[in-house]
Amino acid sequence: MRISQISNEVILQYVKEILNSPKYRSIDIPEDLIESLYLQEEPHHKRLQDLHKAVRKKLHNIVAPYLGDPDYKQASIDITNAFNLNQEAVRTVCTDILNSHASTKERQPFLGKFYKEIFLRIGKPQSILDLACGLHPFGLPWMELDQQCQYYAFDIVKERIDLINTFFSLSNRKPLANQQDILLHPPQIKADVAFFFKEAHRFEQRHRGCNRNFWQSLPVKHLLVSLPTTSMSLRHNKVDQHRRLVYEIIQGLEWTVEEFQVENELIFWLQKDL
Ligand SMILES: C[S@@+](CC[C@H](N)C(=O)[O-])C[C@H]1O[C@@H](n2cnc3c(N)ncnc32)[C@H](O)[C@@H]1O
Repeated sequence: MRISQISNEVILQYVKEILNSPKYRSIDIPEDLIESLYLQEEPHHKRLQDLHKAVRKKLHNIVAPYLGDPDYKQASIDITNAFNLNQEAVRTVCTDILNSHASTKERQPFLGKFYKEIFLRIGKPQSILDLACGLHPFGLPWMELDQQCQYYAFDIVKERIDLINTFFSLSNRKPLANQQDILLHPPQIKADVAFFFKEAHRFEQRHRGCNRNFWQSLPVKHLLVSLPTTSMSLRHNKVDQHRRLVYEIIQGLEWTVEEFQVENELIFWLQKDL
């Protein structure tokens, strides 16, 4: 079947089909994310089946189920029980949750060092935007933040957001995690720092060149972007490629950059000229 100007109603129908498919039913991702993929991909395909295939491929890479997930119901019970015990039990459950997703698992053995290096540079923030957070907020016990620090977290996966808010509430913090596509709706909350960890290269795969406007739109003084030093298989060194990507994104902007590395993570401390 060939495409000839698909109407909005038809696109919404395709979106519903994906949302109700066995793969995405339980994940509960935002409708407008899938809709935006159809609108973005439509001009590049002549046949409807190619359009569907391209959207599903992009979506698979964005949601990235292959990176791993905890059993959300069980994790919620475990973290609640741990808070009834002691801080040691809380750290143990947080470690298990961090280990259930590839991005946080890789970082977990160096968490103390990771935050020390960051806060040494930017000081202790009073407000944080954790963008495309995954399960990273479960690193809170190692961050040693002030109790009043406002921790906003954003992800597209509803179950993840619910678990994070349960954890925030148990930690006597406001439940400030939001289900939000941050590329379609960049957070406009003023904060001391934004963390954008291990996602910038993947944003480029979703929409080449999208990072520049996104980074510029964030009302924060410090932007900390991290990228992995190797491919997931550990076979390819990615340092040069990822460094090039960051410098291309900020080309011509009067921002200061300091680069440092904590084990397998390359971190760029960007200071915006606000
Ligand atoms: C590679 S993981 C990184 C997680 C975390 N930043 C870390 O370094 O531990 C990417 C995360 O970004 C989320 N994500 C991808 N695209 C997003 C978007 N447009 N808006 C919000 N979250 C997004 C995914 O659901 C996933 O949890």
